[in-house]
Amino acid sequence: MIKKALTKLILFLFIITLQTHLKIYALSDNSQYASLAKLWNVTNDEVPKLLAREKTLIEASQKLKPLLDGINFCGSYIDTKSNKLFINIKNLSLKDNITNSMKPYQNLLSFNTVNNSLTKLNSTFDKLTNLALQYNATNYIISKQYKVNNIVIYLDPNDYGRNKAFIVNAMQYNPIIKTSTSNKDQPKSTTLESTVIEGRNVSVYVVGGDWLYDHAGNEVCTAGFWISRESRNDQRYLVTAGHCFDNRFANPDGSQTFYTRVFNLVDIGRMTNHSLQLKDLGYILKENNLIVDRPFVKSVGRVARESPIIGSLPSDELEAGSNLCMSGAESRVKCGYIDALDANINFRDGHYVEDVIITTIYSTLGDSGAPVYHSESDDPEDFPDRIIITGIVISGRTGNEEEEVTSVVQPINTILTDDFFLITAN
Ligand SMILES: *[C@@H]1O[C@H](CO)[C@@H](O)[C@H](O)[C@H]1NC(C)=O
Ligand SMILES: *[C@@H]1O[C@H](CO)[C@@H](O)[C@H](O)[C@H]1NC(C)=O
Ligand SMILES: *[C@@H]1O[C@H](CO)[C@@H](O)[C@H](O)[C@H]1NC(C)=O
Ligand SMILES: *[C@@H]1O[C@H](CO)[C@@H](O)[C@H](O)[C@H]1NC(C)=O
Ligand SMILES: *[C@@H]1O[C@H](CO)[C@@H](O)[C@H](O)[C@H]1NC(C)=O
Ligand SMILES: *[C@@H]1O[C@H](CO)[C@@H](O)[C@H](O)[C@H]1NC(C)=O
Ligand SMILES: *[C@@H]1O[C@H](CO)[C@@H](O)[C@H](O)[C@H]1NC(C)=O
Ligand SMILES: *[C@@H]1O[C@H](CO)[C@@H](O)[C@H](O)[C@H]1NC(C)=O
Repeated sequence: MIKKALTKLILFLFIITLQTHLKIYALSDNSQYASLAKLWNVTNDEVPKLLAREKTLIEASQKLKPLLDGINFCGSYIDTKSNKLFINIKNLSLKDNITNSMKPYQNLLSFNTVNNSLTKLNSTFDKLTNLALQYNATNYIISKQYKVNNIVIYLDPNDYGRNKAFIVNAMQYNPIIKTSTSNKDQPKSTTLESTVIEGRNVSVYVVGGDWLYDHAGNEVCTAGFWISRESRNDQRYLVTAGHCFDNRFANPDGSQTFYTRVFNLVDIGRMTNHSLQLKDLGYILKENNLIVDRPFVKSVGRVARESPIIGSLPSDELEAGSNLCMSGAESRVKCGYIDALDANINFRDGHYVEDVIITTIYSTLGDSGAPVYHSESDDPEDFPDRIIITGIVISGRTGNEEEEVTSVVQPINTILTDDFFLITAN
């Protein structure tokens, strides 16, 4: 009884505090843009302008693509800060022709002459992918990167012994090899009380960026976003990474129950399906009526806040060089650039995932499953910012230098297959 009253009091105080914080927030500047401001090295006020600029650059790149063939064209990428769409071509004599066809965007175009055509990059990418499988390589990423007009392979020095045959044979194609150590995917343990309590008659909101717990109270992964399916739109699934599933915690039916936390653990439901091969995806079926599937993503300004999800963007509508941000339970909001829109990854446990996006976002243990998004804002006064989902984080790696970080993203177009659709706030 006393415990209940106390909980109510704490909840009440919590709500008061939250409201006070929101007021403070409203008085502060556009600090929801702090992470992007940091990425671009600009003030918060300049972020909406850069977001609008980036939107135009991506629009221009979408117009550009059908104009170019695979023989003369060698890929494109954007640089939002310098407001340029870089076009790699083999033959500069094509420049005037392209410029003429891109009239409204002429001032944004910048041409580089390079050697590797798209067709060449594609065939080298395929050859290296096959070599890696043939030589049983492990713990690698193979990616097609237009900015450097080459194939970039990320390898972990701990696996050089096993990967030696692959590396030796790969050298004939002159790829760029980067050293990159994968963050091990072990659940973080925590001091959390592990008793599961009966849910009280309150709603428990679960949003993208929240921690997901196993039944022992370990912080395991990050909640991605909610989806449903046309044929069963009474059912809701929370998307996260497939490798968040842990056999040691499996139920007799082979599923695993995941939890959120208010003061204690509250069960969300069972991960009934998960995939590790070709896609790294897990779906948690919402089975507890107390859980509310809230289509928001946790973000940080001066205080924790939430941004509404208004849609999704498939990988073929993104452009190399554009920004993406993540809301990880461990790392909170981190932003980075897209290095490659076409890559595959092989995990040390042997699972192979293809059609992933490579970014320079920092992520670490616990961030797996985190929603990755592009912010939309054509209006600097816009509050709150709106979020367009582009996928979830499935791997984080660190290079030689501390700032050489890589996060691998499972794109939304590989998640919303069949009749699945994203739950949005509009
Ligand atoms: C960020 O921009 C400031 C000037 O606006 C410059 O002095 C500084 O070197 C920049 N930092 C980085 C890391 O580029
Ligand atoms: C290169 O590969 C990409 C992705 O597989 C494909 O969309 C594109 O059409 C290919 N381009 C050429 C010129 O082969
Ligand atoms: C570049 O294109 C022009 C016109 O199509 C052609 O005459 C020329 O030979 C090409 N140059 C190279 C190096 O391919
Ligand atoms: C560009 O070249 C293509 C053929 O290579 C031609 O069909 C097209 O009309 C040219 N466009 C312009 C704007 O010159
Ligand atoms: C392209 O190839 C030529 C000849 O092989 C070489 O001289 C040149 O440096 C290369 N250009 C680039 C940008 O790699
Ligand atoms: C690949 O390597 C693993 C680990 O070293 C080994 O167990 C497996 O048999 C190898 N597979 C092939 C086809 O060589
Ligand atoms: C939960 O609360 C609502 C309104 O406060 C009430 O109508 C409902 O009966 C309660 N349900 C349970 C199971 O206590
Ligand atoms: C789970 O897998 C079964 C069988 O493969 C499939 O019918 C069902 O649609 C899947 N559900 C989800 C949520 O992926």
